[in-house]
Amino acid sequence: MGRLDLCYNIADLREVARKRLPRGVFEYLDKGAEDQVALGGNRAALDACKLLNRVLVDVSDVRLESQILGAPAALPLAIAPTGIAGLTWHEGEFELAKAAGRAGVPFTLATGSNTPMEKVAQESGARAWFQLYMWREKEMSYELVRRAARAGFEALIWTVDIGHGANREHNARNGFATPYKMNARSVADMLRHPEWLAGVMGRYLLAGGMPEHVNYPERYQSRFSGGAARKGGGHATSLRADKVSWEDVDRLRDIWPGKLVIKGVMRPDDAQAALAHGADAIVVSNHGGRNLDSAPATLAVLPKIVAAVGDKAEVIVDSGVRRGSDIVKCLALGASAVLSGRATLYGVAAGGQAGADKALAILKDEMKRTMAYIGAQRAADIGPDAIWRA
Ligand SMILES: Cc1cc2nc3c(=O)[nH]c(=O)nc-3n(C[C@H](O)[C@H](O)[C@H](O)COP(=O)(O)O)c2cc1C
Repeated sequence: MGRLDLCYNIADLREVARKRLPRGVFEYLDKGAEDQVALGGNRAALDACKLLNRVLVDVSDVRLESQILGAPAALPLAIAPTGIAGLTWHEGEFELAKAAGRAGVPFTLATGSNTPMEKVAQESGARAWFQLYMWREKEMSYELVRRAARAGFEALIWTVDIGHGANREHNARNGFATPYKMNARSVADMLRHPEWLAGVMGRYLLAGGMPEHVNYPERYQSRFSGGAARKGGGHATSLRADKVSWEDVDRLRDIWPGKLVIKGVMRPDDAQAALAHGADAIVVSNHGGRNLDSAPATLAVLPKIVAAVGDKAEVIVDSGVRRGSDIVKCLALGASAVLSGRATLYGVAAGGQAGADKALAILKDEMKRTMAYIGAQRAADIGPDAIWRA
């Protein structure tokens, strides 16, 4: 029996990932910011939300198929952008994208990924979305956006909740950084995880070098090693724009021909502004508790944002989803779909594509089971009446 066969839920996949990965990589994946308050708050809100059984109704044909951004998906879920899968498994992003394709859910490729965007858009078999971080030199970002359009991505997700960058003290302590740096702590950490060293880093090195931020414009390219290939000077993260405005959404709207999504919205007025400036959808997100540690849970802010948006656009939500019942709760509070960040990352980190397949199968099975309990045969039947209010 393989390790994945003994994984019955996302927490089991997390545990396999924890053992396999160097501590620095695992903590980067797993933790939040500062005191981990927002991270815990997301989970606490989902756990505190209770669903009501509906009994004696026909649940013999429960189906999860949904529409996300105007096209079909096998369930109301898409893979969130995370620029780390390639450090958890060799070509992990591509493995995750293929798993998404097989499961019939969209996959979002992060700006900071190390798989060429064309390969993901054209070879993974998934509906492909591209996530953008805006650089100070905005023309560079527009170049990337045009390249994503040529590659065939159907949606552009602009992530706007980064401010001045995150304060993640664990990464300072454990020596982990992106781009990946060889230092005394990270090398000792790697040596304690020989399976990862041989299967991930070793394979990259054999194939010609450390994985690169291949989708950065030429002069921003840097290697995870932080090595000599860095061009133009400076860490790419520090080159991100911190002087942005709603006019930048207008500009992207002009350039980008497909669906435009603004990710990281936590206020009803920001949601309305996003739509006024041409966004097709928003993602209510506190970045999985990784940025502003004082952020409220996304589940707590979701209903007012849904009310402000009405039926003018899709409201997608993320942050904290680890069970199929969590997806049902988000839908019951008005979300049209959820993004999965860590849940599916734990899967790929535990077992590559097979692990990601397993994570998606678990979420799907749990969602179906929960729908049967609350008497919903279709995702569209999940409504606020399913939520217990004291
Ligand atoms: C390791 C990691 C890396 C991430 N990198 C990005 C990124 O590059 N761009 C982005 O928009 N969001 C990024 N996110 C945030 C996710 O897109 C998503 O908002 C978050 O993971 C949702 O919370 P969850 O992990 O609890 O599902 C990252 C999240 C994680 C866990």
